[in-house]
Amino acid sequence: MVEVSASILNVLPGKETETFLALEKGKTDYFHIDVMDGVFVEKNTYDKMLEAASYIKRISNLPLDVHLMVKNVPEAVDDFGALAPNLITFHYEACSSPEEVMKVIQQIKGWHAKVGISVKPDTDVTKIYPFLPYVHTVLIMTVEPGKGGQTFLSDMTQKIQKCHSYIQENDLEIDIEVDGGINLKTADTVKAAGANILVAGTAILKAVDFGEIIKELKKS
Ligand code: DX5
Ligand code: ZN
Repeated sequence: MVEVSASILNVLPGKETETFLALEKGKTDYFHIDVMDGVFVEKNTYDKMLEAASYIKRISNLPLDVHLMVKNVPEAVDDFGALAPNLITFHYEACSSPEEVMKVIQQIKGWHAKVGISVKPDTDVTKIYPFLPYVHTVLIMTVEPGKGGQTFLSDMTQKIQKCHSYIQENDLEIDIEVDGGINLKTADTVKAAGANILVAGTAILKAVDFGEIIKELKKS
């Protein structure tokens, strides 16, 4: 089954309520919360996302999918963990040792959230293999993290395939989520490669009918 996680990064100011409700009506499976700290990536969306996520929690029953693009992972895990998200994903590159990665995984589980580990486009996916038995999701970035509206990096298709094969060969039950430049065209490619959670921001927000585009993205 393929699921869609709608990125709220570029929702127009003043249009939050109507957009969030329309995304829910359009049957997004998750709200994707892009948390940026101005250190790990240039932009800073930290407070805005904290506010948006807690607002969504009040008006919707849909799960939150929190994507932490931050250097200080433990602090962000506690700030966003308090909102009871379904999934918290952190970047492998933000951690300085395997011990730190394992500590973060335990910390997220302490909030009773699922754990996601993410790799940037330049990071070899084999680097995260040792952690796969302890996580629920691998988030493969298909653009450089930092902003919405970028073009899908086609080299990432192979990375998705490689990770998918490893997961299958090792009998692991892990979702493969992809993030960045996902639209109706690239969706087919990533789904064929093994991705089963598709993050989409621009493609959904630009569409006339959220329900229609989400349905198309989910088609397998
Ligand atoms: C990029 C973010 C993505 C991005 C998705 O750093 O993690 O979630 O905003 O947006 P689109 O679909 O516009 O690439
Ligand atoms: Zn994201």
